[in-house]
Amino acid sequence: LVFENSTKASKEVAKEIADLIKVKQAQKQPCILGLATGSSPKGLYAELVRLHKEENLSFKNVIAFNLDEYYPMEPDSMNSYVRFMKEQLFDHIDILPENYHVPDGLLTKAAIADYCDQYEAKIEALGGLDLQILGIGGNGHIGFNESGSLQNSKTRLVALDHITRVAASGDFSGLENTPRTAITLGVKKIMEAKRVILMAWGEGKSNIIKASAEGEVTSRVPASFLQEHNNATFILDQAAASKL
Ligand code: GLP
Repeated sequence: LVFENSTKASKEVAKEIADLIKVKQAQKQPCILGLATGSSPKGLYAELVRLHKEENLSFKNVIAFNLDEYYPMEPDSMNSYVRFMKEQLFDHIDILPENYHVPDGLLTKAAIADYCDQYEAKIEALGGLDLQILGIGGNGHIGFNESGSLQNSKTRLVALDHITRVAASGDFSGLENTPRTAITLGVKKIMEAKRVILMAWGEGKSNIIKASAEGEVTSRVPASFLQEHNNATFILDQAAASKL
């Protein structure tokens, strides 16, 4: 779906999420959301905060799982995804603190594999993700599933691509300070989400959007796996859609 601009597009996504939360509330069910970081979902989170403050949208039945976190990473460090999510969304809505999850960047290396299995098990125990929000990296990564990630990949510790680290290096004041690894939800859990919405804005994403939406389905471009999902939508502004 192509929108005139990212603000209009973000409002549309927020509306879909709000409607889903309300349907689940009426059914007395939790709403299980998969959330993303990066600049692309910022407008969505701002709109969800507005719906909470101005239209009484409650998040008390929402259970959220974030896609990824740098490793190692202190939760209150400037660039942690915990901090990002609190600043953009969680601190401004009525989600219960025990109901949001961001992968733990403080684990010992030895503890990571079990932790990742438990992260997936928690999602499974809730019946899977009702809706997964995604951005896309310039190389086609989703979460931190870099090029080469398999369609059945599990939640795990990954090495970040050079191109991903260069893109993030501005936030970390230099490549030498940018993490080399991260914990990411695997492609498999993303593909199992009942609904997937990938958001991308701007000319800079247009080539990778074309490759992901119209190119070969390949692990070289993990976002291309979404072509095989039965309820995935790319929400784009005109610039991001310009090569389609
Ligand atoms: C990071 C995140 C991804 C995100 C990507 C794109 O790599 N781990 O989940 O999709 O950035 O970021 P942006 O939306 O700022 O372009």
